[in-house]
Amino acid sequence: LRNDIPRRVVPVGTLNVSQRAKQLVMESLDNNRLSYGPMMQRFESEFAHLHGCRAGIMSNSGTSSLQVALQAMKELHGWCDGDEVIVPSVTFVGTANIVLHNRMVPVLVDVEPTYYELDARLLESRITSRTRAIIPVHLFGHPAEMNAIGEVASHHGLKIIEDSAETMFASYQGRPVGSLGDIGCFSTYAAHILVTGVGGLSITNDLEYAVRMRSIINHGRDSIYISIDDDKGKPDDELRMIVGKRFSFVSVGHSFRATEIEGALGLAQLEEWEAMINARRANASSLSERLASLQEHLQLPQIRPGSEHSFMMFPIVLRHASKNQLVDFLELHGVETRDMLPLTNQPVYRSLLRWREEDYPVAHWINESGFYVGCHQDLTESDLEYIAELIDHFFQRNR
Ligand SMILES: Cc1ncc(COP(=O)(O)O)c(C=O)c1O
Repeated sequence: LRNDIPRRVVPVGTLNVSQRAKQLVMESLDNNRLSYGPMMQRFESEFAHLHGCRAGIMSNSGTSSLQVALQAMKELHGWCDGDEVIVPSVTFVGTANIVLHNRMVPVLVDVEPTYYELDARLLESRITSRTRAIIPVHLFGHPAEMNAIGEVASHHGLKIIEDSAETMFASYQGRPVGSLGDIGCFSTYAAHILVTGVGGLSITNDLEYAVRMRSIINHGRDSIYISIDDDKGKPDDELRMIVGKRFSFVSVGHSFRATEIEGALGLAQLEEWEAMINARRANASSLSERLASLQEHLQLPQIRPGSEHSFMMFPIVLRHASKNQLVDFLELHGVETRDMLPLTNQPVYRSLLRWREEDYPVAHWINESGFYVGCHQDLTESDLEYIAELIDHFFQRNR
């Protein structure tokens, strides 16, 4: 490290619990309310409306939200064990795992070399008579190519679950992510865009899906009694019916519930989403500008025409070399990095699914050469300058 660059720590994520968040959390505690209630209900509905959907359902993780989305579809459409679901070759393991947890088969499609998202041109070749759904993933804050994916899906009668765990408040052709398929799923886990500790949301315009997902999150309980308020203030006839069904279960469900505390944290952050996303976009522009002279070495994030990016992270792919030395150099100097979501080379799938990395050349390149650094709202210009200076120094040194 050059002596004139003082070492600093630049984390990939941030947490800054505001006074407003503390106030809403205290309100839940003062109301003696932890189970599904007014905070979560407001968070769900405001988040869903902001993303162009009628219904939002909060669970304890993005993975749970994806899992119940697929289970709801499987149950309502009568899909079978062993039916297939298409997943991109670059995503977090949760996207593929939820297919397996639903006793279905994840079928991979390689990703686009520019945006790292499901390559719609390769979709047709992977569709069989058992394909039921596609899970496009909006990676790092950037929307997948939804028009082309939607065309293939409607041609073959396939459903779409958007894995938008990493992308909120971004649009594709003027429409918000999460409203572009049949169900959209988000994560509010640490280092994501909204952060509630643990948490996930499924949003949809299909109320049948919404009711079924809510039930599955609650052990598969009959939807007549989900919140502890559902039997309050009812006329006698209705109350008798609710009492009769309060312990009635219609699906093999899960215990995937979140609490009012996560709801309160989400609600408070939702009030500040525009400032947060603007800061992320400004950070991304600043970093891109600072790294522009290294474009012969680095592929920097690009934005699909007609799309917006919300920059959960700032992905970088080395054009001609492995990432290892650069990543080690950054980490040793305090800049946190993460791999760009390797899937095809994971030990867990080796004997289970027998994916061969050479069949997914773009994923293979990204696994070898792609990583990301933070882009969050609490980074300063000095943090961004530090990242860029280090990267520049690395290439000068290795010239
Ligand atoms: C693309 C993608 N899908 C799903 C998930 C799972 O979200 P969670 O960690 O909330 O279960 C993540 C989480 O990081 C993700 O990046």
